[in-house]
Amino acid sequence: MCGIVGYIGHRNAYDILIKGLKRLEYRGYDSAGIALSENDYRVYKCKGKVSDLENQTKDKDISGRIGMGHTRWATHGEPTDNNAHTHKSMNGKFVIIHNGIIENYAKLKAGLQKEGYKFESETDTEILANLIEFYYMRNQNGTSFSPEEAVRSALKMVEGAYGLVILCEDYPDQMIAARKGSPLVIGIGKDEYFIASDATPIIEYTNSVIYLNDDDIAVIDDKGLSLKNLKNIPQKPNVHKISLELSEIEKNGFDHYMLKEIYEQPKAIRDTYRGRLNFESKFLRLGGLHNIFEDLKGAKRIIIIACGTSWHAGLVGEYLFEEFTRIPTEVEYASEFRYRKPIINKGDIVIAISQSGETADTLAAIQLAKEAGAIVMGVCNVVGASIPRETIAGVFTHAGPEIGVASTKAFTAQVTVLTMMAMSIGLANNGLTKEEFTELVNELYAIPEKIEKILDKSEKIKEISDKISNATNSLYLGRGYLFPVALEGALKLKEISYIHAEGYPAAEMKHGPIALIDEKMPVIVLATKDKSYDKIVSNIQEVKARKGVIIAIVTEGDTTIKNMADYVIEVPKSDFALAPLLTVVPLQLMSYYIAVNRGCNVDQPRNLAKSVTVE
Ligand code: M6R
Repeated sequence: MCGIVGYIGHRNAYDILIKGLKRLEYRGYDSAGIALSENDYRVYKCKGKVSDLENQTKDKDISGRIGMGHTRWATHGEPTDNNAHTHKSMNGKFVIIHNGIIENYAKLKAGLQKEGYKFESETDTEILANLIEFYYMRNQNGTSFSPEEAVRSALKMVEGAYGLVILCEDYPDQMIAARKGSPLVIGIGKDEYFIASDATPIIEYTNSVIYLNDDDIAVIDDKGLSLKNLKNIPQKPNVHKISLELSEIEKNGFDHYMLKEIYEQPKAIRDTYRGRLNFESKFLRLGGLHNIFEDLKGAKRIIIIACGTSWHAGLVGEYLFEEFTRIPTEVEYASEFRYRKPIINKGDIVIAISQSGETADTLAAIQLAKEAGAIVMGVCNVVGASIPRETIAGVFTHAGPEIGVASTKAFTAQVTVLTMMAMSIGLANNGLTKEEFTELVNELYAIPEKIEKILDKSEKIKEISDKISNATNSLYLGRGYLFPVALEGALKLKEISYIHAEGYPAAEMKHGPIALIDEKMPVIVLATKDKSYDKIVSNIQEVKARKGVIIAIVTEGDTTIKNMADYVIEVPKSDFALAPLLTVVPLQLMSYYIAVNRGCNVDQPRNLAKSVTVE
């Protein structure tokens, strides 16, 4: 949440900052602001999008080779001009941008008020700006503090999470960055440095980056970059080479990132199994699990922790692990797990799933599991993110950057990884026979092509979506492997079209939700041919008897449901266990088309942000 970008070097900072903020806008779009430094500093900020900020700066002085910018997802204080970042300290010595939450802000504010500090905004960030200034000014007479020392002293007082960029009026050639809990990447160019919440604003200029660790404070000036921690101990900057291409973060002719990402799913799945799953030799190896594979094979229990769509992928994982490996598996919302004193035994396997690798609740749950002696691994999409660095093993989903706030290709890539994990453990611990394993390899290999076939039907899916775009409520039903898909379909619809949607296990319908059904209620039923096909046919009849509008996702060639449902969308036949990878695609497309019909901002739905780095 919140996007941060900073630049110090020989170019005009403004252009880099604006372009960078547009790339980071998926992290929050309540307000935007920049500060530019050239002897003094100038601050421009406003409620709204980066484009509003651009309008505001049209006739203004935008010179400066040092600057920073921020795009906000509001936590403390409404989205207003005043609450927009950047924030200046009361005496104007410091200007800062911040991603995260200062939890003890009330106490810090009260202390500063006693010292005579006044506040212009409702943000926790302004408190931090003033706290830094307080240390800086208090110590100017006697043992004077440098801006870096003032930052260090202030941050020692802070409870919470921060990614920060700081400028000091008295040191116009210097920029300070600090991190705890919220991500920060520093790009290293020739005599220039870029700072950002993720690498997307940086890759155009350099592929050499440093991922800051918690408690790192970086000072960048004419002499270069120095890195120390909160205890003032020098840290060795580890420079990584990133392989991200600019084309991967552009829309490439699609109207929205979400649509592009839906269409990228065949590639995302192929990229995720490439080099791991060999179709010819029926060989499967997940290198990132090598060091814990014996533990996985002999595990007594698996706990999956995640949030949102990643949690839905985890639910599919539960079905896969229990069926293929017979290892008891539980799926937990990371936010519940971290606060409810869960029973974690030494040697339990904890799998943290996260597209961004930065979700605050998932990170906190990982910490708890590690402290309790669990073996914690990650399934993550972003290389260099916090979760892969906090876990001892893991498998990356190679879905490529996901920019649309509604997660699509990350979900199918996560399910692909979980399928491969369950298959390799199952083969090793005899949960699966060699024949079953071979069949699954063949089936998984064929999935991308089958998704392409579904995408070819997008016109028909759009026509069906047009018919239900005015609904106010909807119900998604599925059984077995398709129950998590029902949840995911409902989440997709509500988050981008603002239509109320609920996902339910189909058999649970008669325990309550059936009361909602009338002729205005679209009921989306996942009804591919599997063990519970006859049961789901009965559920459809129950809905029809109450005049509900049925949209059924069925296996190609199904005639029974075709005769009962109002609309059907066919998907190719697959193994039951792999059906989530196919059936979720029409649901993603339907949500997309419905949201477009309703005039919603698909890529940046209201109140949401892509990377949830606060609790
Ligand atoms: O980056 P993560 O996978 O940890 O994010 C988890 C959720 O915030 C995320 O899946 C969210 O629910 C999406 N908006 C769903 O489309």
